[in-house]
Amino acid sequence: MNTRDVLDKNKKLEDYDNSIRPETLDEYVGQDEIKENIRVFIKACLMREESLDHVLLYGPPGLGKTTLAHIIANELGTNLRTASGPAIEKSGDLAAILSSLEPGDVLFIDEIHRIPKFIEEILYSAMEDFELDIVIGTEGNSRNIKIDLPPFTLIGATTRAGDISSPLRDRFGIVSKLNYYSDEELFKIIKRTSRVLGMDICDDGAMELAKRSRKTPRIANRLFKRVRDFALVEGANIITKEIAIKSLDRLKVDKEGLDQIDIEYLEALIMKFNGGPVGLETISAAIGEEVSTIEDVVEPFLLQQGFIKRTPRGRVATDKSYKHLNIEKNNGD
Ligand SMILES: Nc1ncnc2c1ncn2[C@@H]1O[C@H](COP(=O)(O)OP(=O)(O)OP(=O)(O)O)[C@@H](O)[C@H]1O
Ligand SMILES: [Mg+2]
Repeated sequence: MNTRDVLDKNKKLEDYDNSIRPETLDEYVGQDEIKENIRVFIKACLMREESLDHVLLYGPPGLGKTTLAHIIANELGTNLRTASGPAIEKSGDLAAILSSLEPGDVLFIDEIHRIPKFIEEILYSAMEDFELDIVIGTEGNSRNIKIDLPPFTLIGATTRAGDISSPLRDRFGIVSKLNYYSDEELFKIIKRTSRVLGMDICDDGAMELAKRSRKTPRIANRLFKRVRDFALVEGANIITKEIAIKSLDRLKVDKEGLDQIDIEYLEALIMKFNGGPVGLETISAAIGEEVSTIEDVVEPFLLQQGFIKRTPRGRVATDKSYKHLNIEKNNGD
């Protein structure tokens, strides 16, 4: 495959993913409180003909932060410019992005907690006074210049609100935490994806998928696509509950939606560390997963579902975990 084909293929994958991404607040399922607030703020700023206040969206991966940023720009009728925290390495990178903004634009910075601190400071005056305050020239021969920026809206997204410095955090007028979705909400998302991709799924099947999606739209959509593959190969023109269950079992997604990493985590916690308390680093080494994956992806769900608890001395497995893994609790010594 040549570069051109690879590019085309990536583009196709992107189109495919974008097609199932909702484009308006009405299509965006769940997160009702955030949605209704944002609806009001957007309406007010359109009436005042001002730019929307800066928005910080945080929460575990796959809950719809990027999607919501696109929707906000769409509802405002403005352009969305995107940047990503880790890609901003020099102050010039950020200055270039900021100085190319047009009035009313939405600038979306994903993984905003990963912007280096010395660059982050540029954002302070940009956000507060719409002024770009930078130092140019070399050491010994440098000077400060100020450039006026058009009014714009910064939308920052992060999975780690705790890693955002307070000066940055304080400059966001709207701070919203995205929550895990209910099974009913995921059901709606799956039904919508099924319509968009043109593959029917019966209600029972959609509910089964919803229950096993780790309360996360991205996972619901991903599982839908895999289950659709199984249905296609079997020659079925609708995804039934049986097909859903059979495929999910083959994908090793269990009835509570726990995947292989979740299970490895719980097994290690219980069998190797007698249920804890155990530190994050230790468990990460024991199962060979990155600390960040465990902290950002694995643990938030296990905590929310009551499989583990956090204590000052480390992570502890709850009775629910023992029961789920069918392991007798050893209270000995
Ligand atoms: N509220 C929603 N309604 C319908 N679909 C949604 C919703 N939220 C997310 N999705 C779907 O889930 C997928 C993942 O969402 P998105 O990329 O916005 O997550 P994210 O929070 O930005 O994740 P990350 O932290 O990994 O960047 C999207 O492709 C979208 O189709
Ligand atoms: Mg995202």
